[in-house]
Amino acid sequence: EDNKKTEVVFTEEQEALVVNSWNAIKKNSGELSVKFFKRVLEIAPPAKQMFSFLRDSNVPLEENPRLKPHAMSVFLMTCESAAQLRKAGTVTVRESNLKKLGATHLKSGVKDEHFEVTKQALLDTIKEAIPEMWSTDMEKAWGEAHDQLANAIKAEMHANA
Ligand code: HEM
Repeated sequence: EDNKKTEVVFTEEQEALVVNSWNAIKKNSGELSVKFFKRVLEIAPPAKQMFSFLRDSNVPLEENPRLKPHAMSVFLMTCESAAQLRKAGTVTVRESNLKKLGATHLKSGVKDEHFEVTKQALLDTIKEAIPEMWSTDMEKAWGEAHDQLANAIKAEMHANA
């Protein structure tokens, strides 16, 4: 039943809201990554124990080079989801990637609720970076792209749990 994905309507305008805002902020990927993780830990302090690179580290977040890849995966994959949703009405993560994502998150003890935390951190980070561009429609577009991606990862986690 995992193949029966519900198609969502995601318009060109929504894709543009995601892509344009990403283009406006991506040059600051280092700073965005730190802000994203700070926000995740503000909302859910225990999440620190899940990430090997935070758990085993004594350096401040700002100086931890290993948090950037995860933060950027969340931003970039959400952007890609927006493009896929507009084109096909569904998110397709490459099969091998999805398998790995499902396995890694399952093994790390990630639960469905945690995706709400990273979602909020994602939205808050973008809003803070470009308050003048931010709008309810932009929030909805990023939120929808995120939720569809998160659902694909969660489905893979459940399939293996
Ligand atoms: C690892 C993406 C949400 C916790 C990874 C990796 C990627 C990724 C690409 C590394 C690749 C791999 O080993 O498979 C994403 C995306 C997310 C998401 C796109 C949401 C849309 C979450 C959430 C949590 C989480 C909600 C928990 C709060 C982790 C942990 C690792 C990981 C603990 C292993 C990192 C380590 O300790 O080295 N994620 N992730 N992720 N993710 Fe996520």
